[in-house]
Amino acid sequence: MRVAVLVSGRGSNLQSLLDAAAASRLGPARLVLVVSDRVGAPALARASAAGVATRVVPFVDFAAREDFDRALVAALAEAGAELVVLAGFLRRLGADFVAAFRGRAVNVHPSLLPAFPGLGAQAQALAAGVRVSGATVHFVDEGLDSGPIVGQRAVTVFDHDSPATLAARILIEEHWLLPRVVCALAEGRVRVEAGRVRVDGGLG
Ligand code: GRF
Repeated sequence: MRVAVLVSGRGSNLQSLLDAAAASRLGPARLVLVVSDRVGAPALARASAAGVATRVVPFVDFAAREDFDRALVAALAEAGAELVVLAGFLRRLGADFVAAFRGRAVNVHPSLLPAFPGLGAQAQALAAGVRVSGATVHFVDEGLDSGPIVGQRAVTVFDHDSPATLAARILIEEHWLLPRVVCALAEGRVRVEAGRVRVDGGLG
């Protein structure tokens, strides 16, 4: 299965996928393209170092979000992407993208959705005073971090946590979860039934 990864910045989640691929832990998934919406995103260097093709579709170059979406979908189609992974991709995608990749695009988010969607999820969790937060991988739909949930991992929230310390602990779980979800998807073990996801054999 041909997999494209969308990134905006640091790319540690991308790295977890590159490492899993190198260790043959992604099943039949093959990372064929990494696309950034920002010029110079550090994630691009990670992809190049691993020998994966890169492309930049700079959001700022487009007058309207719909035009950006269309260019992105075209780049993904050109690469023959069958699955799209949003790994630290900080842009909301529109109807064109969702229509093209419904059920074939997943996003990793640093909270236990449906709690704390959107930006600053770790700060939102601290402000709400929750004792547990975590990481979620979900299918991408029209909403904000709202699609069917494929997998979650919980972390304890400590009294002394800052957004940065909580983010670091959640990130470990993101890196655990994301390659396992991609592997399960590539192996055809994931089904959505009435908005709920079943993963045959679990995530490991
Ligand atoms: C991750 O916490 C991801 O869940 C969030 O932004 C962060 C990106 O980190 N959307 P990285 O670029 O994968 O290192």
